[in-house]
Amino acid sequence: MISKEIRIAVTEYSSPEETGPETASLIQLAAKAAAQAYAPYSGFNVGVAIELTDGTRFMSNNQENKAYPSGLCAERTGLFFVKANHPDSTIRRMIILAQQDGMTTEEPAFPCGACRQVMVETEERQEIPMEILMVGRNRIVRVESAGSLLPLKFIL
Ligand code: THU
Repeated sequence: MISKEIRIAVTEYSSPEETGPETASLIQLAAKAAAQAYAPYSGFNVGVAIELTDGTRFMSNNQENKAYPSGLCAERTGLFFVKANHPDSTIRRMIILAQQDGMTTEEPAFPCGACRQVMVETEERQEIPMEILMVGRNRIVRVESAGSLLPLKFIL
């Protein structure tokens, strides 16, 4: 038997300003996306901003449905859109932010397990790591690679 410890490296920021002007503007885009989410059933609006290596930016949000499981999270909505329309694109970073009652949540929006699985595979399709920023009012957490969010991922 062998016991192992799996660690992940994170960087924390206390405000969008601390991340620098470029990232702060991407965080604003994610907030705009969250405000446009269709989340009448949960009231939990998730917004995502995606930036490609060529600087192109996209936004996405969660899309709910009366038949609850038919809805989709903001992260997968965004990644699937980008890869459907720009299959050869390389994603440099992704910002995730959630709002309740029009306000960004205190704690960062950490992606669900299903989204992590899709994020990891999206990252594997490209040559460089995909940076992930999870934004909350109290703190902003950054990981340099989507893979670090799901170390024991599903492998086929
Ligand atoms: N949601 C996301 O958009 N991303 C996640 O990573 C977790 C949850 C959405 C799904 C649903 O519309 C709402 O948040 C509440 O679960």
